[in-house]
Amino acid sequence: MGRFDGKRIIVTGGTSGIGKATAIAFLNEGAQVFIVGSDKDKVLKTCNELKHTALVGLHQDLERTENIAIFFKKLVKDKGSFDVLVNSAGVSHFCPATEESIENFQRTMKINVEAPYILSREFARQKTSLAKRAIVNVESLMSFQSRPGMSTYAISKGAIHQMTQSLALDFVSLGIRVNGVAPGYVDTPMVAEMKQVPELDQWVKDRTPLNRWAEPQEIAKAILFLASEEASYMTGETIRVDGGTLASF
Ligand SMILES: NC(=O)c1ccc[n+]([C@@H]2O[C@H](COP(=O)([O-])OP(=O)(O)OC[C@H]3O[C@@H](n4cnc5c(N)ncnc54)[C@H](OP(=O)(O)O)[C@@H]3O)[C@@H](O)[C@H]2O)c1
Repeated sequence: MGRFDGKRIIVTGGTSGIGKATAIAFLNEGAQVFIVGSDKDKVLKTCNELKHTALVGLHQDLERTENIAIFFKKLVKDKGSFDVLVNSAGVSHFCPATEESIENFQRTMKINVEAPYILSREFARQKTSLAKRAIVNVESLMSFQSRPGMSTYAISKGAIHQMTQSLALDFVSLGIRVNGVAPGYVDTPMVAEMKQVPELDQWVKDRTPLNRWAEPQEIAKAILFLASEEASYMTGETIRVDGGTLASF
């Protein structure tokens, strides 16, 4: 018996890193999982690799925010309604604000903020008899603090943190809990280049009281907790899974 037997879960960014680890964890606990990515080959590769009958791969570019509501409505019409939405898809890049282009800024805002907002709204609009539903947003350390060169990403993660709180209030009457997980540095493709530079790898370890990078599975555990009935009295909350980083200075 899994905590998510018979539950239907959508995980954006389920083709890589934290989203993929989350999709696997849900599958292991009995859910049917729909993963979303913009790269068709990656979606196919993930499905072939995981080879699970309860896994469905979906190709959708979340930067094309004008298509998201139609995509979600059609998905629900064709496949049925969802119990849980995990907004994990995201992008980041290093660029001091003085050098930043409006195109890159807007791309980050579309994928990291606008897309999860529209998906959450459509998730809430589902005409369903499901009484207990949950949304989990993947936030960041940078929802709370920033670093030089990371302003675009930090602004987007600050916004999704506020989205967690605000939508929790708007959706409470619908029986939807909205929570977030704020990871520290996690060993995923998003930060692979950074991890390969010995000085930066060491900087992350020195900056993290637990003295190491997180594994994506460690973030997935917190996401599953918030999505489960174990967190039935939690909404509008963000759990930091950061190895103690925000506790120190
Ligand atoms: N890794 C960290 O240290 C860290 C720390 C804090 C927070 N986070 C957050 O955790 C989340 C997951 O990051 P990760 O580290 O797992 O990164 P990742 O391994 O690079 O995975 C990112 C995922 O987002 C999807 N994605 C990106 N652009 C997309 C688009 N336009 N449309 C649809 N899907 C898109 C990617 O799929 P496609 O390539 O197929 O588009 C991929 O599945 C992000 O929100 C990130 O900001 C990460």
